[in-house]
Amino acid sequence: MKKKAPDNIKEMFDQISSRYVLMNKLMTFGRDRYWRKQLVKFAEIKDGDRLLDVATGTGDVIIQAIEDGIQLKKSAGVDFSTGMLSIAKARLDVPEIEWIRADALDLPFKNSRFDAVTSAYLMRNAINIETALTEQFRMLKPGGKIACLDTTPPKKTVFSPLIDFYFLKIIPLLGALIASSKAAYTYLPKTTKNFKTADELKTMMIKAGFEKVSYKKYMFGTIAIHWGTKPYGKNNIN
Ligand SMILES: C[S@@+](CC[C@H](N)C(=O)[O-])C[C@H]1O[C@@H](n2cnc3c(N)ncnc32)[C@H](O)[C@@H]1O
Repeated sequence: MKKKAPDNIKEMFDQISSRYVLMNKLMTFGRDRYWRKQLVKFAEIKDGDRLLDVATGTGDVIIQAIEDGIQLKKSAGVDFSTGMLSIAKARLDVPEIEWIRADALDLPFKNSRFDAVTSAYLMRNAINIETALTEQFRMLKPGGKIACLDTTPPKKTVFSPLIDFYFLKIIPLLGALIASSKAAYTYLPKTTKNFKTADELKTMMIKAGFEKVSYKKYMFGTIAIHWGTKPYGKNNIN
């Protein structure tokens, strides 16, 4: 098991990039698409909006927004894994979307440029969640929307043994068989268990300056989507 550090994470996603989309479908029984659809809905993206998708990976969130019929303008998907980004570009190569290699903790855009900022499965990987949030806050126009989708540590219920078995045994096995990387899919349950609870992440979003922050859980409480708004009349925090 590799240490949680940017170079290791980058390398891990480079290695699994060619099987990433298939693995997501298998692990989630195809629900991953629905969660991204919900993410797009909570980000309230409209025709003509500029969307920034941080940790875009193979581009699934942007692709979902377009499949939902939204006409994006001057939008971008950012990721630090070249392997993941090259698949995103091969899947969707249109002038309205730029695929940019960059760090979510140091985004290469001017302040207040986007109408909405989304991320799917970034926060759990971020070495500094506060910085990830303040960078996303900085990217948004006042009134702009943030929406984050990620796994979340589930509460103890009667289903806990089943969920643990699935996360700790089945997912790593699928990772080994399908993506030739047991390590990457052992990393997923570990980081989920150690990640902030949904309430803690909500508090961090409020602290970063967002208002109207809320969240919804899915899949036996193992997935959460958080959303919020950058208030009008507030300067960027950083
Ligand atoms: C689990 S994948 C999610 C990809 C995509 N958002 C999706 O919906 O499937 C996580 C992605 O986050 C990227 N990532 C993690 N930390 C990052 C950082 N600090 N800056 C940029 N990308 C990052 C990884 O390279 C990887 O592509």
